[in-house]
Amino acid sequence: MSEALLRVENIDTYLGDSHVIQGVSLAVPAGKVVALLGRNGAGKTTTLRSIMRMSPPRSGKVTFDGRDLDGLATHEIARARVAFVQETRAIFPSLTVEENLAIAVRPAPNGWTMAQIYEDFPNLAARRGNGGMQLSGGEQQMLAIARALVSNPRLLLLDEPSEGLAPLIVRQISEVIIRLKQAGMTMLLVEQNLAMALEVADEVVVLGKGRVRWSGPAADFRAQDEIRHTWLGV
Ligand SMILES: Nc1ncnc2c1ncn2[C@@H]1O[C@H](COP(=O)(O)OP(=O)(O)OP(=O)(O)O)[C@@H](O)[C@H]1O
Ligand SMILES: [Mg+2]
Repeated sequence: MSEALLRVENIDTYLGDSHVIQGVSLAVPAGKVVALLGRNGAGKTTTLRSIMRMSPPRSGKVTFDGRDLDGLATHEIARARVAFVQETRAIFPSLTVEENLAIAVRPAPNGWTMAQIYEDFPNLAARRGNGGMQLSGGEQQMLAIARALVSNPRLLLLDEPSEGLAPLIVRQISEVIIRLKQAGMTMLLVEQNLAMALEVADEVVVLGKGRVRWSGPAADFRAQDEIRHTWLGV
């Protein structure tokens, strides 16, 4: 089990007095995509925020590439090459596409460059001089992902990248994620769009009310009608 790039072991996280994450464990092996599924309020975002120590766990352990993240600041975890694309997308509305990318660049040998981004995301290339505020929801999501990529992460945490986007745009986002997977990117993908998640995931973790209710290979998840019904409502 030591091969996982990210390992979350029995973490408990509180928001105020509320015990939101209750003994959650999961592992993301290098080069794999793990989908973290669950209904609204299940604790998906809080799990990602716990990993980044934006909401530090009160107990349990998170290791990245064998290194205990306990005591690190969020920016130090980012510097260790963990990128977090938040639900809010958090791009800078007053900066252009180009400026949003430029401030995120962290070169790596054979890594992502701005030129590579413009080649792979022609929409962003066409919009490079536009302000973040002028972008559509789909373009903002693409920019948020592209910004994470130019930081050349070893692990990408994605929080509901399809949220609020039209089916055609969701399709484009899926294709980006599939391409990243084919290029070997390790990802922990939070989604409520089950079809999209199952299209890319190697492993599935189902969260419900702050606990892991099921986890296993994505291929086995399809037969879990009761889990799906009870914890995802589909
Ligand atoms: N600041 C807070 N204080 C107390 N409880 C909170 C706070 N923020 C969120 N919660 C609660 O924590 C639980 C988990 O929230 P979280 O945002 O992690 O869920 P989620 O699975 O990401 O949901 P969604 O799909 O809606 O994004 C929810 O029940 C929520 O009401
Ligand atoms: Mg959330």
